[in-house]
Amino acid sequence: SAEIEAEHYDIIIIGSGIAGVYTALEMPDNYNIAILTKETIDISNSVLAQGGIAVSLDKGDSPQLHFNDTIYAGAGLCNTEAVWVLVNEAAENIECLCKFGVNFDKKSSNELSLTREGAHSMNRIIHAGDTTGKEVCDKLISEVRNKHNVKIKERTFAIDLLTEDKKCAGVLAYDEDEGVCRIYLSSMVICSTGGFGQIYNNTTNPEVATGDGVCMAYRAGAELTDLEFIQFHPTVLYHPENKNFLISEAVRGEGALLKNIKGERFMPAYHELNELAPRDVVSRAIFAEMKKTGSSCVYLDITFKSREYLENRFPNIYKTCLGYGIDISKDYIPVSPAEHYCMGGIKADVFGRTSIKGFYACGEAACNGIHGANRLASNSLLEGLVFGHKIGDEAAAILKERTTACNSMSFASDRKEKNLDIESIKKQTQDIMTAYVGILRDKQGLSYAREKIDEFYKLAFDMKNKGVKDFELQNMLLLSRLVIEAALEREESRGAHFRSDFPDTDDVNWKRHIVKGVEKNA
Ligand code: SIN
Repeated sequence: SAEIEAEHYDIIIIGSGIAGVYTALEMPDNYNIAILTKETIDISNSVLAQGGIAVSLDKGDSPQLHFNDTIYAGAGLCNTEAVWVLVNEAAENIECLCKFGVNFDKKSSNELSLTREGAHSMNRIIHAGDTTGKEVCDKLISEVRNKHNVKIKERTFAIDLLTEDKKCAGVLAYDEDEGVCRIYLSSMVICSTGGFGQIYNNTTNPEVATGDGVCMAYRAGAELTDLEFIQFHPTVLYHPENKNFLISEAVRGEGALLKNIKGERFMPAYHELNELAPRDVVSRAIFAEMKKTGSSCVYLDITFKSREYLENRFPNIYKTCLGYGIDISKDYIPVSPAEHYCMGGIKADVFGRTSIKGFYACGEAACNGIHGANRLASNSLLEGLVFGHKIGDEAAAILKERTTACNSMSFASDRKEKNLDIESIKKQTQDIMTAYVGILRDKQGLSYAREKIDEFYKLAFDMKNKGVKDFELQNMLLLSRLVIEAALEREESRGAHFRSDFPDTDDVNWKRHIVKGVEKNA
């Protein structure tokens, strides 16, 4: 056992994507805040967001229509109260972003320019070229760096939540540069660590998306929900050197067509909204076409637009594809579906409250039910904003008593020295999750996956961790197990969860959520 250094804060935020940073900015200035982030502050999933942010600004559009589209995409599992908050409070938070200097594309009339994405009935996606996430995150990060009350702790990996009498007491974290553990004491901790796309082998998520916060919450006894719903984005570049680069849905929003390797358009045979059908529908249609034609990809055709237009509207996609020898103004873009977003996460209400007092969740790490079984495009940056703001309101109300918890704690460890090939186990996990827990699932495949992942889990769970990669692997294995269990349990198909052995939606038995949680002894 060893003495561990402790620091005190009023509020601790874990994660530095849009949810974490915006939440910090929405907090009262008189609180002492720490943002813990396991890499540098500018590395997150949010930074990579391309398409934009959904908000009903157009004439003829309304929060009600945005609500209807979100509910329709969510396939019966959205929490209507939370969706109302999302759509009604969208515009005021976007206004706030504009005040922070975020520079969205504008029409000549100086109004924000609006595009369309899948399953939206109106043009309501605001954007900054095709790098919306970067523009938003850059401005928010520069804002937060100027706040005297916010300390940014980079390369600080949150290992576990500390609780006392079922209340949040702080976070145990690992300082990567010094190789030591530290305690951050606080009675209010906000988990905004994002999703866990890395449990799949092709994902649009960055390397850091290993679900650490969701696992931390689970181990502390918080409830998780909707884990079986994993969104696969239909159009991710399929190139020998890159199978993770997103080709934004906004490209289809501007008219791009999907074609199979024979050059035939196929979406009209699958859904009345064609290329702009809900994402789960498009991903499964592509998967079916790939199977039918024995190919590993399909094509996206936007060649009817001029080079000038494409270079201007999609500068990053244009440039990146060109780097792989694909001139999108002349060539079809090879694409296939890849993991993109986790609908499930830490069960939370509209104020971010979880089942542990003082512990909050926001953004992709959270699940308050706005996405249901399938997230509507461009609702996720919005989620980080709207619910980050709500947690800010909550903090002002609840933080009257400051934490008086102890200054240092002792930790005993019964972990074992093991020499595991972490990279190899990670790769095998991703392969298994992709093959058996991906777009199509069935009992046999899921059972096999459970067996294999359990073997890895048993090997890795009690190893003496030597660094972040070890912690990440343990988290990825824990999450893979939980996702598989939920996917086995849900014997129906709904939204992003498709069981080929139960292809129908079963509203009688399954219009409900699967909740996972361990009861933790105090
Ligand atoms: C995209 O640009 O296609 C991503 C939009 C989203 O995932 O919400």
